[in-house]
Amino acid sequence: MTTPTPSFYNDLDQTLIEIRQILEQGACNRRAAGHHPVVATIGNDGVPSQRVMILRQCDWDHSSLRFHTDMRSKKVDDLAARQSVSVLIYGEPDKLQLRLTGTAQIESARMADRPWAQSTPFARRCYMAQAAPGSEAAMPTSGLPAWIEGKKPDEEQLLDARQNFAVLTVHFSTIDWLYLANEGHRRAKFERNGDGPQWTGRWLIP
Ligand SMILES: Cc1cc2nc3c(=O)[nH]c(=O)nc-3n(C[C@H](O)[C@H](O)[C@H](O)COP(=O)(O)O)c2cc1C
Repeated sequence: MTTPTPSFYNDLDQTLIEIRQILEQGACNRRAAGHHPVVATIGNDGVPSQRVMILRQCDWDHSSLRFHTDMRSKKVDDLAARQSVSVLIYGEPDKLQLRLTGTAQIESARMADRPWAQSTPFARRCYMAQAAPGSEAAMPTSGLPAWIEGKKPDEEQLLDARQNFAVLTVHFSTIDWLYLANEGHRRAKFERNGDGPQWTGRWLIP
């Protein structure tokens, strides 16, 4: 059975609509292709690092994506020195690749209050790790205090972890879209016009 040609196949406007759906769905549907993008930063030494992150929110009108992370992690240091980021999404079964570039920043502690309060106790428990993510350990460990392993923390137990929680916002300004199809692949590039939600697209050779 052949896959029907999608409406966006030869249409830049429809492609942009498809991209928006992938990002918005990614933020609210854990089974969607866009739910766990790979976010790349550049270290102080010029070496790039990538990591999987859960997409928490997409604000299309402001071309922004929101992630949660540990304030003590390497990516936060990377961004303090250099705000450039790239975000990669790969989707099955459609065989699509979406690459965004832009800048990222860590939001103020006040901005992180609500996302923290809205996260489940188990999600917030990650931030109870005593040492920074990526620290060396003398033995295999989750990094969590032993007394909370396998348990749901209560609000009081989570109080100290709050300072380790950060909201990372990506503002994307370019989108590179690749769609693989038997009848011929398609690739398009979109660039944001200024700060607004308007995009200029053009086709590229895949
Ligand atoms: C499925 C999956 C989801 C993840 N989600 C997040 C996330 O939302 N935020 C985060 O900071 N790290 C997340 N991680 C861990 C990162 O990939 C990474 O290992 C960690 O953030 C440390 O990265 P860094 O040392 O480059 O800063 C996730 C890993 C996996 C496998």
